[in-house]
Amino acid sequence: MTNPTDRNAALAARDLKHIWHPCTQMHDHESIPLLPIVRGEGAWLVDAEGRRYLDGISSWWTNLFGHANPRIAAALAEQARTLEHVIFAGFTHPPAIELAEQLVRLAPPGLEKVFFADNGSAAIEVALKMSFHYWLNQGHGEKTRFIALTGSYHGETLGALSVSDVTLYRKTYAPLLLTPVLAPSPDAYEGEPGEAPAQVAARRLGELRALLERHAHETCAVIVEPLVQCAGGMRMYHPDYLAGLRQLCDAFGVHFIADEIAVGFGRTGTLFACEQAKVSPDFMCLSKGLTGGTLPLSAVLTTNAMYEAFYAEYSAGKAFLHSHSYTGNPLACRAALETLAIFRDEPVLERNRVLAAHLARRLEPLRAHPHVADVRQTGMIAAVELVADKATRRPFPAGERRGLRVYLHGLQHEALLRPLGNVVYFMPPYVVSEAEIDHLVEVATSGIERAVM
Ligand SMILES: Cc1ncc(COP(=O)(O)O)c(C=O)c1O
Repeated sequence: MTNPTDRNAALAARDLKHIWHPCTQMHDHESIPLLPIVRGEGAWLVDAEGRRYLDGISSWWTNLFGHANPRIAAALAEQARTLEHVIFAGFTHPPAIELAEQLVRLAPPGLEKVFFADNGSAAIEVALKMSFHYWLNQGHGEKTRFIALTGSYHGETLGALSVSDVTLYRKTYAPLLLTPVLAPSPDAYEGEPGEAPAQVAARRLGELRALLERHAHETCAVIVEPLVQCAGGMRMYHPDYLAGLRQLCDAFGVHFIADEIAVGFGRTGTLFACEQAKVSPDFMCLSKGLTGGTLPLSAVLTTNAMYEAFYAEYSAGKAFLHSHSYTGNPLACRAALETLAIFRDEPVLERNRVLAAHLARRLEPLRAHPHVADVRQTGMIAAVELVADKATRRPFPAGERRGLRVYLHGLQHEALLRPLGNVVYFMPPYVVSEAEIDHLVEVATSGIERAVM
């Protein structure tokens, strides 16, 4: 029998013998603990020795209604006894049909067709390929490029990484990637001193227009993360940019791909972030919160016009070609249906507004901190930008790994915070309480004190 106080170490040792973890320099685990989580409940995770961690980042932004959510678990159990999986070419099943109907009902107007895939990056691959293939089917094979924003992140498969601009993930694999045209992000933090977020958006739209004038003829689509560039450091921008982007895409004949993988399902205050600009993109990519954080699933919603461009006699060779074995998995679709049922049955967005206001109040004092350059928030995403020098906003060098100090401090104080470089952020499950938000902010604040020393 393993001594109860050694259970974490014993499981970690077995893990490290065979498992290679994502987004990790495995050597780090010589000094940083690898934590075996055996149970989850509400916003909490519990390790093998019974220690608890408040999940301040919704386990990579997936979880909405708590870990091991009883409603989703019950629906899954029933689905597992009914139909766990079936090939999705030539066959269909009620959970996928029902889910597609509901997504179309909830999505911005005009998005009427749903293509399922099984993770966020795969959804991006689908949207990129579909956009390119649409133009090809229309006789515009010269359109082969994409416009992405600086600081964007859309996933790490080669296509998704191609349209991403986070150096850490991209640099090494750059020789393998497509080269997007990069448009300057409307990120308000990067604005000129005194420039309001709406003014940054307007200026950046002008720059995008100039790029489109040069590149629209060879461009399939502009891809953006609506309102918040998450992995790029929770950088936030004004909704006007999305409204202007819609107009520019129409004027220049390129598609608008909205990657709502991280920001969809209520994160930014509305069910979908695009709603805040009252725009409908040509493609909307969904994943993460789609299943409440229970199972991998993604969906690309698009227009009837897009669909029609592929619809022809088989011999025309116009069909969209993309297939994953687990496309439209019934278990994942069922988890998604139960997630949407919770949105229907409970005042989720109203409650989030109250929680977000509480979070904002609790973060307010950090604005005065000598090493905090910015505290920003969009709905249930809040971020604190740490800097070496407040006056010049000079960042701490990345190699100093200040954020890692906050992470380690959090683990010692019952909180899972996982800063992105110098950005400490909060993206808790929606079931978090005000007292739990207080806990997260208190631990983050003391962690920041230690990290900036
Ligand atoms: C905006 C955005 N797009 C795409 C992805 C990729 O999703 P996945 O990790 O499921 O491949 C992510 C993941 O963090 C994301 O934040």
